[in-house]
Amino acid sequence: MLAYSGELGAAWAYIGHRKSLPPGPERQAIWQILKDEVRHRKVLLALMRRYGEEPDARAEAKLRGVGRFIAFICHVGGWFVPMLGAARLEASNIVEYEILARLAWWAGEPDDVPTHLHLGEVEWDHESVLRGFASRHPLWALVPGWPTVGPRSGLRTRYAHFLTNPERPRLRKSLLLR
Ligand SMILES: [Fe+2]
Ligand SMILES: [Fe+2]
Repeated sequence: MLAYSGELGAAWAYIGHRKSLPPGPERQAIWQILKDEVRHRKVLLALMRRYGEEPDARAEAKLRGVGRFIAFICHVGGWFVPMLGAARLEASNIVEYEILARLAWWAGEPDDVPTHLHLGEVEWDHESVLRGFASRHPLWALVPGWPTVGPRSGLRTRYAHFLTNPERPRLRKSLLLR
């Protein structure tokens, strides 16, 4: 499952990002986010194994490489661009977990839905923290930005709408950031 390996890439990137920051609230926040990503991997691994799946070795190697490359960039290029990139990726992760919640429902595994929605909410928290830090940098004014998914409660509102609407609406394209 790509989301599982994506969490590995994110964890490596946050390890590098944290090292590149001086002690302070930003560094502390990255540490908390890193711990969340490691927890997410554990949750996803347990889910995958329940479905009889194992991690994809190629995806693991590829996303580990991506994460380590981002970690390297953190050391040479300052914190702003990695912070921005991380916030942008977290925005995509929110929607990924919303999609996984719907897939769980379609697969006849509604008990897994709260897990996916919760993971999506944690990614929402990550995006909010990282965007907040990035927005305090002087270069923020030059950044074109990206669409946001709206308030945190929107994840559950959209899922409730999906359940009650017999047409099972897809997520709006504007929410699918990549
Ligand atoms: Fe995550
Ligand atoms: Fe995250």
